[in-house]
Amino acid sequence: MAVTIRNARPRDAGVLAQLLVQLGYPTSTEAVSARMARLAASTADRLVVAELDNEVVGVASLHLSLSVEHDEPAAKLSAIVVDERHRGRGVGEALVKALEAEARERGCALIFLTTAERRKDAHAFYRRLGFQETGRRFAKSLRGPS
Ligand SMILES: CC(C)(COP(=O)(O)OP(=O)(O)OC[C@H]1O[C@@H](n2cnc3c(N)ncnc32)[C@H](O)[C@@H]1OP(=O)(O)O)[C@@H](O)C(=O)NCCC(=O)NCCS
Repeated sequence: MAVTIRNARPRDAGVLAQLLVQLGYPTSTEAVSARMARLAASTADRLVVAELDNEVVGVASLHLSLSVEHDEPAAKLSAIVVDERHRGRGVGEALVKALEAEARERGCALIFLTTAERRKDAHAFYRRLGFQETGRRFAKSLRGPS
């Protein structure tokens, strides 16, 4: 069955909320709707979904950022998840390849992502698609006291 990649639409919010639960980010349709509206207003962002037989089964997003170190923008992939009932059928690969093609078209010199240590399956997936592990990620929550 062929995979179709298209821009996310407001009515996809409910399915995307379910997919984000599978990714480990429980949320509501309303919250996803609001996030989608903010992303849609940003020219630096693109949110796509994958369809199998007219059913949304995956999502991924791309963010382009400029820097003072490089002439070209860098592209960050995030929120990549395929419905657990449809994994291993090339949907994830189609999502990544579509966003990689867009990053190339928009002049990016690099495409990258961050992934949790525990996601060993995803690491194998990214390696197969030509991504190399190149560094460490340091993060600090800004929600609590400084
Ligand atoms: C990671 C994920 C997006 C991959 O999507 P998918 O549609 O299952 O992947 P594909 O079918 O396109 O796989 C392409 C290739 O990646 C590799 N791959 C995919 N899943 C794999 C796994 N669980 N273990 C090892 N290799 C895997 C395979 O080599 C596969 O090629 P093959 O089928 O010819 O062997 C999906 O498994 C998923 O949603 N996982 C849970 C959420 C997650 O971890 N997201 C990433 C957050 S950083």
